[in-house]
Amino acid sequence: MDIGCGGGLLCEPMARLGATVVGVDAAERNIPVAMAHAAQSELDIDYRHGTAEAMVDAGEQFDVVLNMEVVEHVADPQGYLTACQQLLKPGGLMICSTINRNPKSFAMAIVGAEYVMRWLPKGTHEWSKFITPDELYDLIKGAGLSPVDRKGFVFNPITWQWKLSERDLSVNYVTASIKQ
Ligand SMILES: C[S@@+](CC[C@H](N)C(=O)[O-])C[C@H]1O[C@@H](n2cnc3c(N)ncnc32)[C@H](O)[C@@H]1O
Repeated sequence: MDIGCGGGLLCEPMARLGATVVGVDAAERNIPVAMAHAAQSELDIDYRHGTAEAMVDAGEQFDVVLNMEVVEHVADPQGYLTACQQLLKPGGLMICSTINRNPKSFAMAIVGAEYVMRWLPKGTHEWSKFITPDELYDLIKGAGLSPVDRKGFVFNPITWQWKLSERDLSVNYVTASIKQ
């Protein structure tokens, strides 16, 4: 399941790789957009309007929860991550990405991405809600999951490419956690 799937940017490559994908988003307007794009791409993806918390109430569980760029937008990160943990089957894997909180992330993720490059609408992010890697590990542990790995997503403006980094988690980064 891709929680906070937006328009399905991650659901589609996962489906192409052979996964059975459920995409869930709290914003109702995202779902028809994601469905229309999947239809154009001839992909079979189960898109649903809802929240992580509502999926828990419905008793749903999944092998993998993809949780990309959502936790820095929610009012209660600990409650949200606990819901994500409850959505995993025992032995399941959660992949969670977010944005670090420091002066560089303010310059890159807010000034650069929203105001200079205009990759995102202005006001998408609140810097104070960004989460450091250690804070996210604590939240993940508090949710009842075991963090196993974390890596940075690093953008190179010369080659115009993104790379995974073992050391540089200064702006965007991703974590992997297991439900024991
Ligand atoms: C910044 S977007 C990320 C979209 C997508 N994951 C990506 O990386 O392109 C955050 C999304 O999370 C959704 N969202 C926020 N809280 C949620 C919740 N509790 N349950 C499900 N979706 C949620 C929002 O509606 C929004 O579409």
